[in-house]
Amino acid sequence: MLNRFIPLLIAFCTVGAVPACAEVATISVDCSQPGPRVNPHMYGIFFEELNHSGEGGLYAELIRNRSFEDGNLPEGMQLIDGFAMTAPNRKKIAWPPTKDEIPGWTPIKHTGADFDIALDTEKPLNQAQKHSLKISIRRGTAGIANTGFWGIALKARETYNLSLYARSGAGFKGRMLAALEDEKGKPLSKPAPITGIGPEWKKLTGKLVADTTYNNARLALYVDSPGSVWLDVVSLFPRHTYGERPNGLRADLVEMLKDLRPGFMRFPGGCITEGLTLEQGYHWKDTIGDIAQRPGVWNSMWGYRRTDGLGFHELLQLCEDTSAAPMFCLNVGVACTIHSPGISAPMSDMKKYVDDAVDAISYANDPPTQNWGKLRAKNGHPKPFVIKYVNIGNELRGEAYSERYPLFYARIKARYPDVLTIAYAGIGSNTKTPIEILDIHDYRDDAWFLSRMNQWDSYDRTKRISCTELAVRNHTNHTLHNALLEAAYLIGMERNADVVRAVSYAPLFLNTNHPSPWEPDLIHFNNHQVFGTPSYYVQKLFMTNRPDVVLKTEVQAAPQTVYALAGKDEKNNEIVVKAVNLAGTEQPVTIDLKGITRLGAKAVATVLTSGDEMDRNSFAEPTKVSPVTRTISVAGPSFTYTLQKHSMTVIRVALK
Ligand code: AHR
Repeated sequence: MLNRFIPLLIAFCTVGAVPACAEVATISVDCSQPGPRVNPHMYGIFFEELNHSGEGGLYAELIRNRSFEDGNLPEGMQLIDGFAMTAPNRKKIAWPPTKDEIPGWTPIKHTGADFDIALDTEKPLNQAQKHSLKISIRRGTAGIANTGFWGIALKARETYNLSLYARSGAGFKGRMLAALEDEKGKPLSKPAPITGIGPEWKKLTGKLVADTTYNNARLALYVDSPGSVWLDVVSLFPRHTYGERPNGLRADLVEMLKDLRPGFMRFPGGCITEGLTLEQGYHWKDTIGDIAQRPGVWNSMWGYRRTDGLGFHELLQLCEDTSAAPMFCLNVGVACTIHSPGISAPMSDMKKYVDDAVDAISYANDPPTQNWGKLRAKNGHPKPFVIKYVNIGNELRGEAYSERYPLFYARIKARYPDVLTIAYAGIGSNTKTPIEILDIHDYRDDAWFLSRMNQWDSYDRTKRISCTELAVRNHTNHTLHNALLEAAYLIGMERNADVVRAVSYAPLFLNTNHPSPWEPDLIHFNNHQVFGTPSYYVQKLFMTNRPDVVLKTEVQAAPQTVYALAGKDEKNNEIVVKAVNLAGTEQPVTIDLKGITRLGAKAVATVLTSGDEMDRNSFAEPTKVSPVTRTISVAGPSFTYTLQKHSMTVIRVALK
């Protein structure tokens, strides 16, 4: 009887820890009755390229449209009446998506200069890069600028590594200079000469050191003599990325993820796994190796093109950096059923898709001397990353999915029996192929969550589920209120840890400059700041207080606004009690740890709350709603504690 009880009102008048005349609730924990063991990977994160989470975000590249491919018509779509359209189901997006002739790039016109810039397809850099930028100079100095993703954020004295490919036309004898500038052209670095331009494509590099901290800078490139110059893959990274890696990630955003201590990381989607067309689906082999060889693809669903600079290898690396078990979502040759129904690769093409799936696992898991493991080693990571879970498709349903699911299941389990497969709930109940874990996605409102707090208590104990996309979604997104509802729901999931094997909030990131965001999101950032939402702190409390085993817990409270669960952290020999009080009044509770005779010296309470349940965090007040930890005194195995109004509390009691 967990949270389902006959209301029991206990009038209790005391002073001190318990306010006078409060109705005391009881949280009874049977410490002699260990319940289900909790998956060490239970709480994870889900990274998808949407909301400019990677491009202009986690991926530290500072140049927008570095390869001049952003203006390409989305892969597999046709231009019809001002729309890019999918042929079979006529899903459309307005085209072109911006008025900018060459997105991200503008000419810098100085007096006396006569030049123009244009996209060019002649003599491309390679097969992956269809366009380059041609600068045709007739007189004076030509300049071009890139303002990155809503301005380039510079840090004083940081070095910025510039690389680009260039070639020149016959007779060109000029020089190229690079500089960091403010939006009006005031220099913010010493100019760097970019030398070595010749008739053949060549990679050239330069270093720029910022004089000052400035959040709206641009990269300027100047060419000072008549003639033609072509550019491609113009890239600028700060020297200090996470782990000081080239082609690296923004350290502040990685640290936010590491702080969570995620058990798994699901990637790359979400809907981008599938795309609006088969061509737009995630083809991981196009996302590895030299960035100049990665074609990138239109992310039509979420309104911008991705370079795939943050590719399969870098995402596996991020899993390793955050100690999260990789959960790779496979493209099964069916376009996104929600956004673009009815498109699937013919069954005769499925071998290629299944091969790609198995090869992806091979790349991550095989020894450095075998199969695709060799390429991983060549790409700088001999040690296997070890994919632990694969989603066979994301949010798919219908016959196309149920026909293809068995092909993936059979090949993967035959070759990698330790990799756990996850089917999406849309598979239905008729499949004859085993389902190891069934994935559900819950973006719902208050009423839905409130009515389902106990739904897993009565679930078939032979089944396993995951919920890799979860968020309370309503008109009060990003508030403490929403976060506490999620916390109460997660308590019900943890209580049923035998059934519920993996949970992650979604989406993970919001670049607050992005004009058409998908909300709510766990972590908000702009080009130089970041904060976690109240939901971020709820997730962190669950990830950092995951017990090894659940203990049978009964809650008696009236009205039913308290949700609680205890478990045991075996390594630290501690009882971990999580309690959520949804009420607008504080709630005294008696916490009764039955079966415990001797406590250790220390008990600690961590509380997430705020003055108002509608409070949110912001760049101005990034930790307004964030947990506070303090030591508490505990009289014995049965003790009283007052849960604050609108709060989540974690109490860790050391045992002897
Ligand atoms: O998380 C945003 C989107 O929501 C995901 O791409 C998709 O799986 C779901 O519909």
